[in-house]
Amino acid sequence: MDLIYEVISEEKIELCRDLCNELMVFQKSNAYIKADLFDTMNFETRLLPSLKSAVHNHIVIVRDGDRIVGYVYSNISPKEAYSNNFATFFDLTSIIRKNVGCLSQFYIKVEYRQYGVGSKLFNMSLEWLKQFEDVDDYFIFVSNGNLNALEFYKRKGFSVSHDILDGFITVLRSHKQS
Ligand SMILES: CC(C)(COP(=O)(O)OP(=O)(O)OC[C@H]1O[C@@H](n2cnc3c(N)ncnc32)[C@H](O)[C@@H]1OP(=O)(O)O)[C@@H](O)C(=O)NCCC(=O)NCCS
Repeated sequence: MDLIYEVISEEKIELCRDLCNELMVFQKSNAYIKADLFDTMNFETRLLPSLKSAVHNHIVIVRDGDRIVGYVYSNISPKEAYSNNFATFFDLTSIIRKNVGCLSQFYIKVEYRQYGVGSKLFNMSLEWLKQFEDVDDYFIFVSNGNLNALEFYKRKGFSVSHDILDGFITVLRSHKQS
């Protein structure tokens, strides 16, 4: 496979629309707790608002020729962004710094999985996240029923912290090594 990895600017986020919507459908199909919550989640309601509320954004897409076959979206956001009407994602008092890092959205088309593409995108994201000297805490939120992703992140060094929304989401955490 001759794949191209491309970091794109926020202005080009439209390129991720279809894959983001595919990710939401995928997550709904796996979920056994509150799966209906995904009905209102899509590119417009999830990705665009996250981009706007973040302090820094990082988007990588993977191209196979003209076709976009995967993307990962990470951001640095004020910790307060994670306590809202929807949920409190983690105990804000457990974070000393102002901002936290998050690997927020991650999706690779099914026929491109298991070839190391995910590991490459994960490493690019973490490298980007870890360059911010004033950020020590990193989060990933995995929806219920996605054991594959949960195990993937655990193997990459993240630990399960807790569940929220009655198990709808599992919160994974990692702390910068000094
Ligand atoms: C989670 C996800 C991003 C992982 O991407 P991926 O490209 O499959 O990841 P990798 O190929 O790097 O790693 C997956 C496995 O393939 C193995 N692998 C990597 N390269 C390989 C190769 N050349 N040959 C055989 N196996 C390989 C890895 O060792 C890894 O094995 P492990 O799971 O036992 O550790 C992908 O499965 C995905 O998009 N899933 C659907 C969406 C999703 O769940 N997103 C996360 C939401 S929180």
